[in-house]
Amino acid sequence: MDKNYRQLKLCIEEEPKETEKNNKVNILFRNTVPEIPSTTYGTFAIYRYPAKFIPQVVAFILKRYAKPGMKVFDPFAGYGTVGIVSRIYGYDYELWDLNPMIDVIHKTAIMKPPRINIIDLIKELKNSKEEFIPNWSNLDYWFPEEFIPTLSRAWGYVHSLDDETKYILLIPLINVTRYFSYSDEKVHKLYKSKYSRKKVEKLLKGDWKRQFYIMLEKEIQNLLKKIREYHRLKPKEDVNYQIRFGIDTLEEKLDNDVDILITSPPYLQAQEYIRSTKLELFWLGYPEDYIRNLSKKEIPYRPVSKIEIYSEKYYEFREKIEEEHLRVLYDRYFHGILNIFSSLGERVNSYMCIFVGPAKIRTIPIPIDEIIVEHLQELGWKHEITFVDTIISRVMFESKVNPASGKKDSRIKTEHMVVLKKGE
Ligand SMILES: C[S@@+](CC[C@H](N)C(=O)[O-])C[C@H]1O[C@@H](n2cnc3c(N)ncnc32)[C@H](O)[C@@H]1O
Repeated sequence: MDKNYRQLKLCIEEEPKETEKNNKVNILFRNTVPEIPSTTYGTFAIYRYPAKFIPQVVAFILKRYAKPGMKVFDPFAGYGTVGIVSRIYGYDYELWDLNPMIDVIHKTAIMKPPRINIIDLIKELKNSKEEFIPNWSNLDYWFPEEFIPTLSRAWGYVHSLDDETKYILLIPLINVTRYFSYSDEKVHKLYKSKYSRKKVEKLLKGDWKRQFYIMLEKEIQNLLKKIREYHRLKPKEDVNYQIRFGIDTLEEKLDNDVDILITSPPYLQAQEYIRSTKLELFWLGYPEDYIRNLSKKEIPYRPVSKIEIYSEKYYEFREKIEEEHLRVLYDRYFHGILNIFSSLGERVNSYMCIFVGPAKIRTIPIPIDEIIVEHLQELGWKHEITFVDTIISRVMFESKVNPASGKKDSRIKTEHMVVLKKGE
């Protein structure tokens, strides 16, 4: 028996233990793909994108449902994990996201291991006369003025490059820039904390310039190591792919058919992706108006047109929400994502695999996965299975007292991968 097939059979038979009602099966995705040894292996975690897939989730789905020649599609691709994993198994892919970060992450993550002398590269960057200042009215709020000339020279140099050296530097420089800012790089949003103020104070007291270049060098070394690691997984060079960023999935149509949709839509609450990556986007050169406009398109914070929702559970849980503004959020979320899955689904030939957390509104757990299943079943999709994965360590989901309700809030403990098969 082929080794990969045997491994796959093992994972599937050992992991999902019992089939409960509603076709739900427990799984620990991170243990299901032996060839990807950890969740941060290779280029799967070169940048902290909020709520990104671990690679094993995508790999598991591809190994179980994809067949040679199939095309994979993610309409909320974020970091682009679906694409980076698809390359390993040789599938063509298409990725969409509102957030332009996907462009730089993807180009960096799939790069061939480059031959480069890091010391010479940093020397060149230090001596460059190019300058770049972001078009950002709040720049002074996020950076002490002392750091600006050094940052401006480093970014000026990177923006002046037009070969692959640019992608050796971009993510490392993004990570260092974030560290040299008043934002707390340990949290997934742009946030000035007590810790981050102290961090800058401490930097300013020491030889921060030296520290800046040492840190940049380490980041580049780490990236190169991660690129080499990814190449040990033997990604295929001949796959076709399209990446579309800065686009609003609600307004877009697929030009061609795809075979498998794998995605995790935006969260029902507490995540603003554009806001979290604003600092990066400004230094990458995106203008303030453009970034503001992207923010206005984020689901579920924007108005959406209403569709007919075919799910009793949707109405049942809607009734339980007392506060008007939370009901608005709930409606925008479901009308937004269900509209997208109904209409994009028309061009999906085989499977839709949708990964969601059973989020809470105040203290009410909302069964997002079941609402999606009910609605799409009505449109002819067959509910194959739901894999229930347990979240092991995620800072944003730590248990704490919810300030609004005063109750201990356990946040999300599991995430659900809904697998729907196209009706005959
Ligand atoms: C849960 S994240 C996806 C993470 C992804 N699975 C990964 O591995 O990184 C949801 C994504 O939806 C995107 N998004 C939110 N509103 C959108 C819209 N209207 N159009 C396109 N993308 C949108 C966000 O930018 C975010 O990247």
